[in-house]
Amino acid sequence: MTQLYDFKNKVKKEELNKAAKCIIEDGLVVFPTETVYGIGANALVKEAVDKIYVAKGRPSDNPLIVHICDFDMLNNVTNGYNEIENKLMKAFWPGPMTIILKKSELVPYNVTCNLDTVGVRMPSNIIAKELIKLANVPIAAPSANISGKPSGTNVKDIFEELNDRVDIIIDYGNSDIGVESTVLKVINDEVVILRPGKITPEDIENIGLKVRLDSHIFLDVKESENVESPGMKHRHYAPKTETIMVYNQNEEIILNKILEIINENIKLGKKVGIIGFDENEILFKENDEVVYIGYGKKDNLYSVSKNIFSCLRKVDEYDIDVCIIQGIAKKGIGIAIMNRLIRACEYKVIEI
Ligand code: TXA
Ligand code: MG
Repeated sequence: MTQLYDFKNKVKKEELNKAAKCIIEDGLVVFPTETVYGIGANALVKEAVDKIYVAKGRPSDNPLIVHICDFDMLNNVTNGYNEIENKLMKAFWPGPMTIILKKSELVPYNVTCNLDTVGVRMPSNIIAKELIKLANVPIAAPSANISGKPSGTNVKDIFEELNDRVDIIIDYGNSDIGVESTVLKVINDEVVILRPGKITPEDIENIGLKVRLDSHIFLDVKESENVESPGMKHRHYAPKTETIMVYNQNEEIILNKILEIINENIKLGKKVGIIGFDENEILFKENDEVVYIGYGKKDNLYSVSKNIFSCLRKVDEYDIDVCIIQGIAKKGIGIAIMNRLIRACEYKVIEI
């Protein structure tokens, strides 16, 4: 049975010790990070790591991120790093950045899915940091969700999916950032973003480094394609309900198109859901056939990143035939949000 530790109002030291003990004894602990919740296991024990794949139903070709609490631990899991990699780690750790480095022999191959590289991250969330420190081992952790579902950002969603699949769940309230870490790799002295996140291309440029987005960030990846990050190939975040995105630089054009699609669907007797800015709900209120799910405020895209996965989870709870998502500008944190939303629509994007 899964034990639930509630740290929302107070961190309970004794329970945190029990969670660390569980990691050392090869158990699974769901813990908060500043991005999304993770399902953690001792990254140095193959049998413990195997349990993560079983709990999530995760394909065995999608490698895990190893979470560390200091640079000594980094040296245990990697085989060195260059100056550019060092600069990135110094600038963005602890925080929402995962960097792909050469792995050490200590990291079992089921963590990396037989790659000779390993994704490493030093989280800033206090519970994550303390858990790693107390366990005194690096913690392998994918996002806390069944494979293919939106990443878990609150314990209500996580408990529904992972109850009885893990030993302990630590509840620390809603995740701050809400989208997973920026995954990057230095290739020929250039920083390549494999998965966009809170750390943006501008943030990386601002520390004087050359950066580009991997070409697959907004594209469908074919099974046969060779990609830098296996995670790009896997189906992600999509509700069961048919979901479509409408995208243009100009919001008014998007909203007019959404109204047009609503009318077409209503004529066919279909019910429509819309995911968009909170402020736009009023435009669709009059229509009983429309369910509106607000994803956050126009002047604060971080409110959107924070809500986006719980909004996607809501879609299937309503009796709707089709869901339309309002696309946002691919700038700053908007790059990460759009990367997740495009996958949630399974690449069905109406770009006007
Ligand atoms: O914010 C996050 O990164 C969260 C929290 C829990 O830390 N974790 C997370 O893990 O999102 P996961 O397993 O859901 O996503 C890991 C991503 C996948 O896209 C995977 O392909 C990529 O990182 N990845 C891991 N190791 C890699 C490697 N050696 N080379 C390339 N990509 C790698
Ligand atoms: Mg994930």
